[in-house]
Amino acid sequence: MPSTNQVTLNAPLDMHLHLRDGEMLENIASSSARTFSGAIIMPNLVPPVSSKEEVIAYKARIKEAIGAEDFTPYMTLFFKPTYDKAFLSSVRDEITAIKLYPAGITTNSEGGVSGFNVEELRPALEAMAELDIPLCVHGETNGFVMDREAEFVSIYEKLAGAFPKLKIIMEHITTKASVAALDRFENLYATITIHHLLITLDDVAGGMLKPHLFCKPIAKRPEDRDALLKVALAAHPKVMFGSDSAPHPKHAKEACGCAAGVFTAPVALQLLTELFEEHNAPLDKLQAFVSGNAQKIYSITPLSKQVVLEKKPFKIPSDYNGVVPMYADEKIAYSIKEVING
Ligand code: DOR
Ligand code: ZN
Repeated sequence: MPSTNQVTLNAPLDMHLHLRDGEMLENIASSSARTFSGAIIMPNLVPPVSSKEEVIAYKARIKEAIGAEDFTPYMTLFFKPTYDKAFLSSVRDEITAIKLYPAGITTNSEGGVSGFNVEELRPALEAMAELDIPLCVHGETNGFVMDREAEFVSIYEKLAGAFPKLKIIMEHITTKASVAALDRFENLYATITIHHLLITLDDVAGGMLKPHLFCKPIAKRPEDRDALLKVALAAHPKVMFGSDSAPHPKHAKEACGCAAGVFTAPVALQLLTELFEEHNAPLDKLQAFVSGNAQKIYSITPLSKQVVLEKKPFKIPSDYNGVVPMYADEKIAYSIKEVING
């Protein structure tokens, strides 16, 4: 993308978002609802969203929190191997995907899957494939922290091979091993965050420790980031933007025992635009990465919304209602000029 004064993005989509609940939901919902047409909403509440009633009630609370903004919350359930075809058929119209967490791997994932026994998972995953419900996966083992995602690739391969009709989304990929897996299986897709396109482990822990850049999966090596950049900047048709924006109160991040998660929702589009410009990537690739690819992969038609960004320095606030965003207090190149709904 050549240097430009103004960029317009159509119907940006965030294909992996934590909106939380209660006061946090009320405080941060507008950060996404203002500039995105919709987002895939993660189900890792306490307790996790795992029944039809819970999905419907959570969606209603989200709608209430976003008020008049044009924004679609694409709802998900927290995967359980006990889901059967009757249950999944009954909930099909309320959800866009189901999110699988390995047990205990990240925030509020204690009730997740352990062992990854194909036969144990078969009834639920075959029913999902038949009902065309994508499976979103947090792909990490409980091995050494830098190797967790690469070790999980063999589990992705096992699942992709055993359930060829199931759409599997490798969420927030951070390694060149995951990027390489995309082209080996027709039914594997991926989301990529803005923070994993910008930082490596060096930015988190190479100097003074930066708690607001600490997340799961942890940022990796320069060659991993390069592999992510290559597919994101080219808008490889199997990758899409998913922020994994994961707000925690400031006291939970600036603590002995820092919660994992980077809060990027209010600055994601500005940072993405700057990144694509810096790398001279064409605007149509940015548009595909932030919306077009996701529309095709998920077969969704988002609400229309045009986000106009202008090349004007923006100083990121130090916090949004008590939540510290990525790059707080720093200046970035693009600002949101206006948002045209409808
Ligand atoms: O850093 C993370 N934070 N990674 C996740 O997978 C979950 C998320 C959260 O919910 O806080
Ligand atoms: Zn997440």
